Amino acid sequence: MKRFFYVACVVVLCLLLVVPAATAKKKPFKIRFSHVVSENTPKGWAANEFAKRVNETLKGQVKVVVFPSAQLYGDNQAIEALSAGFIEMAAPSSAKFVGSVPALQLFDMPFLFPTIETVHKVVDGPIGDDIRAMFVKRGLGIKLMTFWDNAFKQFSDNVRPLIKPADFKGVKFRIMSSDVLEAQMHGLGAVGLKLPFAEVYNALEQGVVDGQENTASNIYTKKFHEVQKYMTFSNHGYLGYAVIMNQKFWDTLPADIQKTISKILTEVTAEARMKAIELDKEQSALIRDYAQKSGRLTIFDLTPAQTAALQKAMKPVHDKFADVVPTKWVEQVKMMK
Ligand code: LMR
Repeated sequence: MKRFFYVACVVVLCLLLVVPAATAKKKPFKIRFSHVVSENTPKGWAANEFAKRVNETLKGQVKVVVFPSAQLYGDNQAIEALSAGFIEMAAPSSAKFVGSVPALQLFDMPFLFPTIETVHKVVDGPIGDDIRAMFVKRGLGIKLMTFWDNAFKQFSDNVRPLIKPADFKGVKFRIMSSDVLEAQMHGLGAVGLKLPFAEVYNALEQGVVDGQENTASNIYTKKFHEVQKYMTFSNHGYLGYAVIMNQKFWDTLPADIQKTISKILTEVTAEARMKAIELDKEQSALIRDYAQKSGRLTIFDLTPAQTAALQKAMKPVHDKFADVVPTKWVEQVKMMK
């Protein structure tokens, strides 16, 4: 009897230990995706779409939470936070990698990419592979997942219309943290002040800077055009993103989950390319509409001759960064034209 009692106790104890472990629900992997722009922008759209699809497809296994508009981290901070494992995903613009993968400043070169298709050829081709290898080699703990577009940038300011190179003289522009952009402004006789994206509106409104350069979607969604007198549709430089993931986090994901996430990212990237073009058109039109209705903003479109003059003034920058951006890449892009 005594023996039976002991055996029963052991069985009950084992059940108590084993059953909860077997039935306990595993917590889903959490992906915190931090970015600085509004949701109604190419990056905002792509991040939300990625989150929606992962959360549906991998329900209970992975949970993506997007933090837009620098709610969590601003600009370069996001790269450091991701590297340290405080967030799992981000998509900073090429300019923000100046301190970590400076070769990405290739994408900041003024008038280097004639069309968005040229950018796609670059990121989908051997240069894209070189960049991926560069991330691995740098040992930053950052995995490069894909590239997303925004669009081409436009100039705006409060000093004078920006039509010819001489118009830029002495004008103080907010720029992203890229040294290439600093040199671009310097080459025009202007001043480039590196400021985080979240501070641009106030800096323009309070006159800390006179002008800025950004895409129509970033300008429109953050209302920069409402605190500017002149805007020039110059399409002088590209703005796009490196979508990155914390490497350690990625390595902890089971292979089937990695496969599903990669597949979703490939699909979202393809659709985001079209969405970016659509949003650029839509938000450029909204800015033009604001200018016409309010009378507080004057818009300029450059003639081919005016564009050529600006190109001539800005292109010397291409040769100034040979120690940072491989000359081979710049030459290859030029050959693509
Ligand atoms: C900027 O700082 O102007 C951009 O990099 C913002 C963004 O992420 O598009």
